[in-house]
Amino acid sequence: MSKIVVNGGAKLKGELRVGGAKNAVLPILAGTLLSTGCVTLTDCPDILDAGNMMSILRTLGADTNKSFDVLDIRTKDASCFIMPSHLSKELRSSIFMLGPILSRFKRARCVYPGGCEIGNRPIDLHLSGLSMLNVKILEKHGSIICDGSDMRGNTIHLDYPSVGATENLMMAAVTAKGKTEVQNAAREPEIEDLQTFLNELGYSVHGAGTSTVIINGTDGISDKSVVHKIIPDRIVAGTFLTAAAITGGEINLKNCIPSHLSSIIAKLRETGCDIEVNDDSIRLSVNRELKEIRHLETLPHPGFPTDMQAPIFALCCVLNGTSIIVENVFENRFKHASELAKMGAEYTQKDRMAIIRGVKKLTGASLIAGDLRGGAALVLAGLVAEGETTIDNAELIDRGYERIDEQLRNIGANIRRID
Ligand code: UD1
Repeated sequence: MSKIVVNGGAKLKGELRVGGAKNAVLPILAGTLLSTGCVTLTDCPDILDAGNMMSILRTLGADTNKSFDVLDIRTKDASCFIMPSHLSKELRSSIFMLGPILSRFKRARCVYPGGCEIGNRPIDLHLSGLSMLNVKILEKHGSIICDGSDMRGNTIHLDYPSVGATENLMMAAVTAKGKTEVQNAAREPEIEDLQTFLNELGYSVHGAGTSTVIINGTDGISDKSVVHKIIPDRIVAGTFLTAAAITGGEINLKNCIPSHLSSIIAKLRETGCDIEVNDDSIRLSVNRELKEIRHLETLPHPGFPTDMQAPIFALCCVLNGTSIIVENVFENRFKHASELAKMGAEYTQKDRMAIIRGVKKLTGASLIAGDLRGGAALVLAGLVAEGETTIDNAELIDRGYERIDEQLRNIGANIRRID
């Protein structure tokens, strides 16, 4: 169990480089099964979820090597089509393995995945999409047993633009006979990164970033060796921008794709932050009292990302005025709110809506991170609170942020970790 301790009050000031995106590296790691060559991934974030994904690959027989932010994966000798249940329960992204395992071994076996407890996270869209590709699925005693010996392309209309289901289907469809069209596909930038990776391996995928993704199936698995750079993490970037905003400080973020953060930048500007956007960097400074966000709804991309809801919630707690946040994507993603209330935050929650009345000051408290982004929100609140805040369960934050304490300390935060 590790703990983060923050002493609030310091204005952040400085420059940070944003690393590769968690939500891009996880599906791409699963996709390494789609080549028998050597895959080198650069700019990989050093986060727990990526480590767990590498462990899953090793149990399937892959060789993995990590040197700083470079991962080398060779799945040539992988032969196991059964996902390890203990690791699968550690992270929801393990479900992404189903598509690549089916492509590679024509059969797969897994258990229901785990992950952050932010609501009911079913996998019905993954399974119904795979059945549309002619995968025979048997659910027995909590196990999912799939036969993909005769996968065929099809037109699949997703009831909801699920990120994971879109990615899973892309990775199964690359070896299904004929053409697959995924309609109402998720449009997140990480799906475009997966498409780039699959095309680098020699597959034929296009349309990612729009709501129709087309995959032309090929016979057999690629044997190409490729080097792929992971796109920067827009949620980490958004979290650091919000951290600077909450402390009334200034930050220059390097290695960003600003267009991926349009909705986040728009909301931070609404509060009164000054934001300058360049080709691959974003500078934020606070030069006035920040005011409320009148209305924010989380939505699939290009709407406001649900993963930024908790950090923005923390900011709303100290804005001048009353903010309204509606969480549309996950039904149970306000766990951070009751922890923030221990610091003096004032809010009312009704179902998926939270009304947050900004207060003049938050006070340090002893808190528990309930999930990854909610945990980051508590760290942000700690940066501005009077006195000391301790956040237990910090390993949940490590699932998606690379040494958040060290990075924030580098730009002036008074923060430390106790293991
Ligand atoms: C991905 C991201 C996660 C982000 C989320 C929404 C990764 C590794 N994780 O998660 O950080 O918060 O997108 O942007 O990329 N749903 C179903 N049935 C399904 C699948 C999903 O009902 O089969 C529902 C979920 O319960 C949820 C919504 O669809 O309410 C969005 O889920 P989805 O887009 O699938 O999120 P993930 O891929 O799990």
